[in-house]
Amino acid sequence: MPVIAIIGAQWGDEGKGKVVDMLAEKSSVVVRFAGGDNAGHTVINPRGHFKLHLIPSGIFYPEVTCVIGNGVVLNPASLIKEINQLAANSIDTSRLVISDRAHLIMPYHRLLDELEEKARGKKAIGTTLRGIGPAFTDKVARMGIRAADLLDKRTLRQRLKTVLENKNMILERVYGVDPLSVDDMYREYAGYADILRPNIKDSVELIGAALDRGEVVLLEGAQGAMLDIDFGTYPFATSSSPLSGNASLGSGIAPNRIDRILGVYKAYCTRVGSGPLPTELHDEMGHRIREQAQEYGTTTGRARRCGWFDGVAARHSARINGFTGAVITRLDVFDGFPSLKVCVAYRIGDRQINRFPSSISELQKCEPVYEEMPGWLADTTTVRRWQDLPAEAKNYIEKLSSLMGCCVNYACIGPERAQTIEVNPLF
Ligand code: GDP
Ligand code: IMO
Ligand code: MG
Repeated sequence: MPVIAIIGAQWGDEGKGKVVDMLAEKSSVVVRFAGGDNAGHTVINPRGHFKLHLIPSGIFYPEVTCVIGNGVVLNPASLIKEINQLAANSIDTSRLVISDRAHLIMPYHRLLDELEEKARGKKAIGTTLRGIGPAFTDKVARMGIRAADLLDKRTLRQRLKTVLENKNMILERVYGVDPLSVDDMYREYAGYADILRPNIKDSVELIGAALDRGEVVLLEGAQGAMLDIDFGTYPFATSSSPLSGNASLGSGIAPNRIDRILGVYKAYCTRVGSGPLPTELHDEMGHRIREQAQEYGTTTGRARRCGWFDGVAARHSARINGFTGAVITRLDVFDGFPSLKVCVAYRIGDRQINRFPSSISELQKCEPVYEEMPGWLADTTTVRRWQDLPAEAKNYIEKLSSLMGCCVNYACIGPERAQTIEVNPLF
């Protein structure tokens, strides 16, 4: 039985949370494999309206085990807050497992994120200020503190002492701010350890056993391919890899056990923070999409930048992820739009290109080449079958599918589980 990876195919916020919540019904394990609490996954289901940052979106099914994988950087304070919020809504989180290999976000990570952003001035990345970049930096620099370190308080104190010596030098001498206290941080994190201890485990065995029993395992992505540290719009990127390749590394599941890789695309494009968005609309149309779709960030509340569907970025994303299929979300946002545009290529001067440039300066010169398509003046939110969609909506989905170069499995016409249309069977 299958392992399905659910991957953000654009600049994040494509609707991964909704898709995971929908598919988790038939699964036994859901693993978050990348990012941290920079993610904001909105789930609207019969249990309520939720914004998840760290906890996998399978948590609403009592029989599903949810794993925060080794590829995640974990802020314990955020996690505990999220657990409490779910508990207040009678959602049981006792099946939550934290990989003992997951790295922790520490107070100096958040502080450094803020100081580094300030130092960048006008060139700021527009990070979520959650300490994500500095935490992944420390992981690679072998200066991280892992969830396992919370289980042994003596190790925790020693590790903190060593790491803070280095961090305090940077804080004081580079940024001129006050040093942080080992004792205070130890007390804070020892408190988190007492709360999270039962959840911290070696997740490799647990996930491997589920696979051996032939159960369905979902790998929940965070962020989107265009924010990838290698293939995104570097340096305007996040500090981990949202791609399918990392679904394997960030969960401890071998690549050859992943059966389906689903790319989640919005019917248009959005981006939060700085960096290129070739199809961005600065006009009334951009405003209309933002207001119609209420495109405001789940994590930071920032207005999301909006633009038409970008077929060049979409194909780049499908290629580097190896999508076996796609989900197109938010099709209903276009209900009542008389006509729509899709970007089919970029133009630089008098040259037309179909590849996604790796350099920011080249990307900034790219003008989208659009094809215009008729819209549909009908309400799609109550449609449940492909054959009942307006012909123009079906044409639009087929156009996106041909641009991405992969089939579409589902189209979503609203945030709720049932507002999903099967276009091609997943299996
Ligand atoms: P994620 O980070 O990829 O999980 O996406 P977010 O939750 O940040 O943003 C997606 C938003 O779109 C959420 O508010 C979802 O409830 C909403 N959503 C998902 N699918 C649909 C859809 O098909 N139609 C509409 N109108 N909203 C959707
Ligand atoms: P989900 O999982 C949209 C963006 C930030 C910023 C850049 C780097 O909800 O799709 P970081 O804090 O990661 O160092 O910020 O990445 N970003 C996201 N944008 N959705 C997300 O997650 C994002 N996570 C990070 O806005 O531009
Ligand atoms: Mg989001």
